[in-house]
Amino acid sequence: MDISNFIQGLPKAELHLHIEGTFEPELMFRLAERNGISIPYRSVEELRAAYQFRNLQEFLDIYYQGANVLQTAEDFYDLTMAYLERIHRDNVIHTEIFFDPQTHTHRGIDFNTVLDGIHSAMEEGHRKFGISYEIIMSFLRHLSEEDAFRTLEQALPHKDKITGVGLDSSELGNPPSKFQKVFREAAKHGFRLTAHAGEEGPAAYVREALDLLNVERIDHGNRSLDDEDLVKRIVEEKLVLTVCPLSNKKLQVCRHMERHPLRRMLDLGIRATVNSDDPAYFGGYMNDNFMAVAEHLDLSPEDLMQLSRNAFEGSFATPERKAEMLAELERFAGETVRK
Ligand code: ADE
Ligand code: ZN
Repeated sequence: MDISNFIQGLPKAELHLHIEGTFEPELMFRLAERNGISIPYRSVEELRAAYQFRNLQEFLDIYYQGANVLQTAEDFYDLTMAYLERIHRDNVIHTEIFFDPQTHTHRGIDFNTVLDGIHSAMEEGHRKFGISYEIIMSFLRHLSEEDAFRTLEQALPHKDKITGVGLDSSELGNPPSKFQKVFREAAKHGFRLTAHAGEEGPAAYVREALDLLNVERIDHGNRSLDDEDLVKRIVEEKLVLTVCPLSNKKLQVCRHMERHPLRRMLDLGIRATVNSDDPAYFGGYMNDNFMAVAEHLDLSPEDLMQLSRNAFEGSFATPERKAEMLAELERFAGETVRK
């Protein structure tokens, strides 16, 4: 079996995905027209051509601009459903998606409108495709901790729909320590915790996320490798890193895919996973990300299965669902060995 068919058949879980980052230009133009909003680009092609980024901030500026088109619950439903249809084709059987409430509440869109649209699509995706899911709300770290507290307050009536909280947006200058109190409060309410750290920021930010925020997972975590003691701890504590290869390339976190840290992470025994982050902006969904690392880092079928296993084990799914997904992976492994 060639590697692309292997990746296609491999059952996968996605643990690092911003739903606003799945907004494809075609859908953006369609919703802009439906909502009577103008986009500062003349065509889908012109918009796509603007997706050239030298760093995280250049991306974020365009990503927040795109999100302005989203107005109604139906828009959030359409956005989420398009993502689910797409990942179903990649044989993703479980997904944990981030949404950024403040990106929308700050421009007058109700928290409930956003969550309703996303949640109904996730339910429909579960019914239609059997894709299980968790929803994680992310605090924007360039805003204040008080603002994050107000967002947490808005989420409390929806604890049944929101599994966890995360931390994203501009990393440099906005260390995890800024959000220590709000993460402690979120934990008291039973939310699972994760945070972006070590994407552009130093290994010290990864340490802060672990020590001060008490997160269970690290989103990205590339820069952890700069700190040997931290690596030891990540291995010992079996911490999961949600790594995003095409994102790292596009945002110049990593210049060459051949030198992407994923290979070293696996060799060190770190529980790394592969994810798409903002696929509409970075040029690929799950299978594209798997394909990029398989080719450029020369990963074996065993390595690719380990990446999937790490994602199932490190997911926020129930123990029953985890067991089911791991069994599906073992079935796939058995079938491919026979071929
Ligand atoms: N928001 C969406 N994608 C992000 C990323 N890769 N890093 C930080 N914040 C983000
Ligand atoms: Zn991210």
